[in-house]
Amino acid sequence: MLLKPYKIVTAGSQQCNFYLTDCLDLFKQLPAQSVDVIVTSPPYNLGIQYNSYSDTLSRAEYLAWSGTWIAAAARVLRPDGSLFLNVGAKPTDPWTAMDVAQAAREHLRLQNIIHWIKSIAIERSSAGAAAGLTRDLAVGHYKPINSERFLNDCHEFIFHFTPQGSTGLDRLALGVPYQDESNISRWRGAGEGVRCRGNTWFIPYETIQRRDRDRPHPATFPSRLPEQCLRLHGLKRIDVAMDPFTGLGSTAVACARLGVNFIGADLDETYLAEAVTRTRDAYAARAAGTAGATATPATLPARAARMRKAELTSAATKRLAGL
Ligand SMILES: C[S@@+](CC[C@H](N)C(=O)[O-])C[C@H]1O[C@@H](n2cnc3c(N)ncnc32)[C@H](O)[C@@H]1O
Repeated sequence: MLLKPYKIVTAGSQQCNFYLTDCLDLFKQLPAQSVDVIVTSPPYNLGIQYNSYSDTLSRAEYLAWSGTWIAAAARVLRPDGSLFLNVGAKPTDPWTAMDVAQAAREHLRLQNIIHWIKSIAIERSSAGAAAGLTRDLAVGHYKPINSERFLNDCHEFIFHFTPQGSTGLDRLALGVPYQDESNISRWRGAGEGVRCRGNTWFIPYETIQRRDRDRPHPATFPSRLPEQCLRLHGLKRIDVAMDPFTGLGSTAVACARLGVNFIGADLDETYLAEAVTRTRDAYAARAAGTAGATATPATLPARAARMRKAELTSAATKRLAGL
C-alpha cells in the first residue's frame, strides 16, 4: 500500500514531504536511483532518550539494522548521488561511528571523511598576524566531560559515501577566500579567489535559551551542516534530497533555504510536527528575504500561518511520492 505523507509543505514548485513512518517502509516505496542526496544522522544506539524510539539495541542488532537501512539508501541513490552520514559516539563507546561506516562498506564507497568541528581553541600565536586576533580564541559549544581519562568531545564524523566513489563535487561552493592573494595566481583552480574548504567544518550549535523549548530533541545537527553537504554535492544537480531520520528537520530546513525538494521520515510525531513548523518558517524567511535567519519558536506561529496557505494539493503529493 502506498504511504501517505504526514504533511507536505510547499513554496512555489518546491516541496518538502514528511512521512510518519519507519524509514525502511519509505525506502521501499521509492523507485531505485531516484534520490540525489541523503543527509542524515541515524540513532547512534548510545541509549539516548528519544520520545518514542528506544536507542538500546544489542550491538549486533544495531549493526545489522544499520546495514539494512544503508542498503535501502544505496538502492534509491542515483549513480552520481551522495550519502552524507553523520554519526556521533561517546567516550566509553568510541567505535560506534567507525562501526556504522563499516556497515556501509559493502553497499557504497567511502569518498570523503569530513570532521564536524563543534568547538575549537586557536592560540593567537598560531593563527598568524593576518587573522587579526587580539587574544587566544575558543569558540563553539560542546558537552563538557568530567573525566580523568577522556577529553571533551568536540567533533563528530560525517562520512561521505557514494555509489562509485567518483561523484563530482562543487568544492568551491564552500570555498574559503585565500588569505594571501598571491596564491590565487599560483594555484590551479583558484580563479574565483577561493580554495576548497577541506574536510574540517567548524559548525557550532546555534545558541539557545531553553533546551526543552528551543531544541526539543536530544540529538540534532545544526541546519548549516546539511546546507554545506547539499552545496558541496552541487545544488544544480539536486532534484530531491532525503533524510530518512528527520528528527526536528534540520535537513528539511536546509532544503527549504536552498530551494531543494525534500523527502523525509521519522517514527515520532512530536519531532515530525516540529520539523514541519521549522520548514514552513524557513520557507517564510526565504520569501521575506531573511533566508539565513534561524527559526525561533517565538517567530514560528505568524510565519507558519502565512506558509500554511502554501500547503499541498493531492496532485503535488502524487508527484513527489511517485518520484
Ligand atoms: C539522531 S536523530 C536525527 C536528528 C536530525 N538529524 C535533526 O537534526 O533533528 C534520529 C531520529 O531517528 C528517528 N528514528 C529512529 N528510528 C527510525 C526509523 N526506523 N525510521 C525513521 N525514523 C527513525 C528518531 O525518532 C530520531 O528523531
